[in-house]
Amino acid sequence: MPHILMTDPAHFAVDYVINPWMQPAAWHGDPAGNAAAARAAWAALAGALREAGARLEVLEGVPGLPDMVFPANAAVVLDGRALLARFALPQRQPEEARFRAAFLAMRERGLLDEVLELEAGLVQEGAGDCLWDAARGHFWAGHGPRSEARAAGCIAEAFGREAVALELVSPRFYHLDVCFCPLPGGEVLYHPAAFSPAALRAIRERVPAPLRIEADAEAAARFCLNAVPVGRRLVMARPPARLAAILAERGYRVTGLDLAPFILAGGAAACMTLPLDRRSVTGAARVPELAEG
Ligand code: ARG
Repeated sequence: MPHILMTDPAHFAVDYVINPWMQPAAWHGDPAGNAAAARAAWAALAGALREAGARLEVLEGVPGLPDMVFPANAAVVLDGRALLARFALPQRQPEEARFRAAFLAMRERGLLDEVLELEAGLVQEGAGDCLWDAARGHFWAGHGPRSEARAAGCIAEAFGREAVALELVSPRFYHLDVCFCPLPGGEVLYHPAAFSPAALRAIRERVPAPLRIEADAEAAARFCLNAVPVGRRLVMARPPARLAAILAERGYRVTGLDLAPFILAGGAAACMTLPLDRRSVTGAARVPELAEG
């Protein structure tokens, strides 16, 4: 069962706008009430993950770095190796040193084997823009609003695994993990309007039609694509009935949570988590009929 990194929400707030979902005015209308709601939502997410069988590693937050509550952006992690992120925007750049220290400490404790750096100057916002597809054995690497296109090549080199670049074209879907979610059974849940025509072609070339699940604008706006799969359970912000039904039909059990305080910062379940112990070959997770012929 997965080992997942989260950041304690004590210093979470919505203080600036770096994506179109962020609402500092709504947060600061009732900072104490929102902070309490955020703590409750965070605890509900942690509880749901534990209940699904995950083990949690909880990092302290840092005053003045509210978005550290989204450790998906800290690094890409696979096979005991962490490739540290570099942030596009000055509001989040001070997180880099904090996350680096945290990852080095995890390496000291034996939770990771290696901590790698991106080449100088290259922007790549961690697992927010780089999702491992366990069923296919490759990464999907988002670029455009935040991460650079050439990061895909560095990721492939660092992990010895293919990274399929997907261009994101909408400021609302500024990270891949808000519009795309590879599921353990080989299905891919995605919101087509977020992608360039070439990215849509790449998705459709690799994911056969029966495994493609197109999510509508409502599901995307509710951050349901920002989901955390734990086995056949999907932990996500509360889904619209239609999406819940589609996923149930595919054999997934959905835990829907109220993550509204984090959606005020443009993030939800997947952004708030980073799996630390994912392996590229797990056997059970592979879908034999997808093996590249
Ligand atoms: N406010 C944060 C930002 O704009 C939200 C990050 C959400 N994380 C994610 N993996 N999508 O960077």
